[in-house]
Amino acid sequence: MAYTVSKLTDFSATALDSAVRDLLSALDQEAEGVLASKVAEPEHDAGWKKRWDEWKVFRDRWIARKNGITTQINELWLKAAPKETKREVGQQVNRLKGEIEGKVKATEERLQHQQWNAEKAVIESTPGRSFATYDEALKATQGVDITLPGIRRPIGAEHPVIKTMNEIIGVFRNLGYSVEEGPEVETDYYNFEALNFPPNHPARDTQDTLFIAGQDAKPPRDRLLLRTHTSPVQIRTMQKMRPPVRVVCPGKVHRNDAPDATHSPIFHQVEGLAVDTNITFCDLKGTLDHAMKALFGSNVKTRFYPSFFPFTEPSADVQISCIFCDGKGVRDGTPCRNCKASGWIELLGCGMVDPNVYGFVDYDPAKVSGFAFGMGVERIAILKYGVDDIQLFFSGDVRFLEQFG
Ligand code: DAH
Repeated sequence: MAYTVSKLTDFSATALDSAVRDLLSALDQEAEGVLASKVAEPEHDAGWKKRWDEWKVFRDRWIARKNGITTQINELWLKAAPKETKREVGQQVNRLKGEIEGKVKATEERLQHQQWNAEKAVIESTPGRSFATYDEALKATQGVDITLPGIRRPIGAEHPVIKTMNEIIGVFRNLGYSVEEGPEVETDYYNFEALNFPPNHPARDTQDTLFIAGQDAKPPRDRLLLRTHTSPVQIRTMQKMRPPVRVVCPGKVHRNDAPDATHSPIFHQVEGLAVDTNITFCDLKGTLDHAMKALFGSNVKTRFYPSFFPFTEPSADVQISCIFCDGKGVRDGTPCRNCKASGWIELLGCGMVDPNVYGFVDYDPAKVSGFAFGMGVERIAILKYGVDDIQLFFSGDVRFLEQFG
């Protein structure tokens, strides 16, 4: 039978003692009852919630302000006590209140320890988790300590190479170009052959190539390599699109170059291709002149210098007037180091698509013409942002990278 507070009629010391004993033994029993129930492992969370609910019922039964047992003994014992016993009864009731509150608290703590121990056991039975000390396990199981400082997530910044790549793409998007991408591991066919580099042609030597190992059993054109330029995306694009074509192809490329301040075995390019009827070298010049002005400022001049690429004819290197000395070749009275006092900086390769290339993609060279260009992204970023070492782009040093945020 559940304990209820009896009305006292006899306020003698013996009667009071006996009532107090009854109460304390009920308190003990109920507390032990709260601590004795068990949680079946599969219902871990639900089980522990139930046990805490039981503890709350216990707590409220004993110390709820409204009609808890402590309130009841105040009413039924202290207030009902005749004047001459008030002092004695008051002392007993106060002591009891202290005991009851202490018991509720202690029960809470013991239950908490039971729960931590159970959680520790669950965690320790998980492979790979064990704790050297009990405290350590407790820490891991006690959940969130809201007094600890939070985990900061530093705000990221766009990588300068990606930022520059996006700027370049933006310039051409505004001219109506779309974006195409291709694989970084390419076949010999796309990287060289279809771009009019015949097998064993010396032009291949200008692009120190990293070949994928173990390809010898394959026919030469199927052998895999890390693409040395983004030009193979021209071929892939023309294979799947009929003219008119206007695309830019950004991406990562690799060459077998030893890293130094101006070389990196990994870098990025943006390729461009426009094929339509009646495209002329004038269109090429106008497009790239506009692009360079959009990237480096409208004061920049461009000049086209004869060059050679197997996949363009004629081919040119584009130079821009030096952005450091305004094309004068002299800065602060001394020869400009950035352009070696020439007033010009070489920036990219371009040309009219070689008719042979159309042969590889089934375009009719008698009907269409086009131009192509390819530029190094790091090289442009270096000039735009005044970076003096290409390795900084790949070292992952946040102090460098956050300057572009
Ligand atoms: N693919 C050349 C390189 O990596 C750059 C290039 C030159 C691309 C001329 C072109 C081009 O599309 O027409 O050196």
